[in-house]
Amino acid sequence: MIKIGVAGALGKMGKEVVRAVYNADDMELVMAVDISGVGTDAGLASLSKNTGVLIESDIETAISSKKPDIIVDFTQPKDIYSHVCTYIKNGVKSVIGTTGLKDEEIENIKKLSKENNTACLIAPNFSTGAVLLMMFAKQASKYFKNAEIIELHHNQKKDAPSGTAIKTAQMMAEENPDFMYGNCPETELIQGARGAKSYSNIHIHSVRMPGYIASQEVIFGASGQIFKMAHHSMDRTCYMDGVLLAIRYVFDNNEFIYGLDNIM
Ligand SMILES: NC(=O)c1ccc[n+]([C@@H]2O[C@H](COP(=O)([O-])OP(=O)(O)OC[C@H]3O[C@@H](n4cnc5c(N)ncnc54)[C@H](O)[C@@H]3O)[C@@H](O)[C@H]2O)c1
Repeated sequence: MIKIGVAGALGKMGKEVVRAVYNADDMELVMAVDISGVGTDAGLASLSKNTGVLIESDIETAISSKKPDIIVDFTQPKDIYSHVCTYIKNGVKSVIGTTGLKDEEIENIKKLSKENNTACLIAPNFSTGAVLLMMFAKQASKYFKNAEIIELHHNQKKDAPSGTAIKTAQMMAEENPDFMYGNCPETELIQGARGAKSYSNIHIHSVRMPGYIASQEVIFGASGQIFKMAHHSMDRTCYMDGVLLAIRYVFDNNEFIYGLDNIM
């Protein structure tokens, strides 16, 4: 049995993780942390029943008493760097879904994970379909010199662009150093009209709108053709296959991994 802790257990994603872990034959929920609902049973919000695991507020205290093999974290961007450092320093493997980590923080985590020989898998997107879209976008980047990304999320998302869009751009940039091939010099009449210029000049456009969960489109253009790929998350269960895949991989391995594509 893989002993799992969930950080952010009462959040929208955390509740799905609690449910998925509870229903997995090879996993046991042993720890749940959140800044709200402290002292309540972690299963009430997600499973409408008691699991015997109570919500705790302090991660280090919870780790030392519950001794999870792996912590799955879906909390909030402003706390995630310190959370990951705490997991690694306490020798606990982690699967990180919380977005908002900066490039230099990811580099530091990679170093820390290696120094402490403690696995950490960070994935900007656990949806297997979205990850396949990233992999296919990378592949298509060999054949197209122009591309832009549109990411569309619900209007309670705190960070922009999405971690998925950033990772997609990074993967595409590995295949092409400049995606603005042949564009004329541009002037923005309203600031931001052309979106954010990211890796290899890939423009990323972020839409925030009630009704969306998480969607992404990548548009490739070349003389005489447009190639568009899109992925839509219809509800949050779409992330759980990827989360369980990551947990099982991390349990058996001891490396730092950034991106679910590396284990698919
Ligand atoms: N990687 C992915 O596939 C993926 C998918 C969806 C969302 N996300 C990311 O996951 C994160 C959470 O998303 P959500 O929609 O579940 O948000 P949410 O606001 O519904 O849930 C966050 C939960 O974490 C708790 N929390 C906040 N700070 C905490 C802390 N320091 N310690 C413990 N608990 C804390 C909150 O009380 C809340 O219950 C966001 O960063 C989001 O962008 C990632």
